Amino acid sequence: MTLETSVGRIELERPGMVASGIMGETGPSMARMIASGAGAVVTKSIGAEPKAGYPNPCFTEIKSGYVNAMGLPNPGIELFADEMRIAVAAGPVIGSVYGADADEFAMLAGRMEDYGAAAVELNLSCPHAKGYGMELGTDPEGVKQIVVAVKGAVDIPVWAKLTPNTRSIADIGLAVQEAGGDAVVAINTLKAMVISPEMRKPVLSNKFGGLSGPAVRAVGVRAVYDLYTTVDIPIVGVGGVTDAHDALQYIMAGAAAFQVGSAVAKGGPDVFDEINKGLERFMMDYGYKSISEMIGVANE
Ligand SMILES: Cc1cc2nc3c(=O)[nH]c(=O)nc-3n(C[C@H](O)[C@H](O)[C@H](O)COP(=O)(O)O)c2cc1C
Repeated sequence: MTLETSVGRIELERPGMVASGIMGETGPSMARMIASGAGAVVTKSIGAEPKAGYPNPCFTEIKSGYVNAMGLPNPGIELFADEMRIAVAAGPVIGSVYGADADEFAMLAGRMEDYGAAAVELNLSCPHAKGYGMELGTDPEGVKQIVVAVKGAVDIPVWAKLTPNTRSIADIGLAVQEAGGDAVVAINTLKAMVISPEMRKPVLSNKFGGLSGPAVRAVGVRAVYDLYTTVDIPIVGVGGVTDAHDALQYIMAGAAAFQVGSAVAKGGPDVFDEINKGLERFMMDYGYKSISEMIGVANE
């Protein structure tokens, strides 16, 4: 029995990766996640210039989820070189980038390739960064232009991370495929708001933010299922994975691999070891020998 899987021209020893934005900002934290059983780690989304992000409060817990509006804080691509040097020595690192236009995405992806990233993940989906992310990622033509530009700039695989805050995620997935993208990653957070009745105003300084955690899992699984019936490129599932059972939902909906964000933030890095053991137990009990045998079986 094996947990190996292949996604967007990358071979992973284990199917679970750390999602972007969680433990992906420093080299040592990324190395620690790989040592804890993650198959790969996705970096925090990195832009062209250093960015401070939004003032506090920018993160709040709700029943069965979290709402955050960090505002993409990051040191900028120049300074990130040192973190990448430490992280890539530990295992596969997927470089997440966000840009204002196709040229900026292409430049950032090229730098991630230089730094030794195994693949680049284009953040076309942040729900709370004005002018970036979701505002770019809901227009199929715009998405196509970005993916074409990045494909022309790098040889490493290009993954596109999609937003669920759109009329048809499958149409955006098709645009990625037509542009030559190697994989799609679904989903980023859902646009959300939490109000404090005592304060009579939204809790987050940015007012709205992105919902993550168990509350979004059923939306993510539906998105992956939709994509699996539409695109031929591999899919990475993300949203609300806390244990092997959750991960299996994504795999059976059509994901070749999955990412874990909020559950790592809440429970720490041990979550990967538990998920891996749970996957092996399930595969033993139900007679599966590989992850690939289970991908998309819920569609049959
Ligand atoms: C605090 C926080 C920061 C995040 N930062 C990023 C980011 O920089 N880039 C990105 O593509 N996604 C970011 N995300 C979204 C996650 O990668 C993931 O898509 C989402 O949280 C759903 O997965 P989860 O329910 O396992 O957290 C962030 C999520 C959280 C909670």
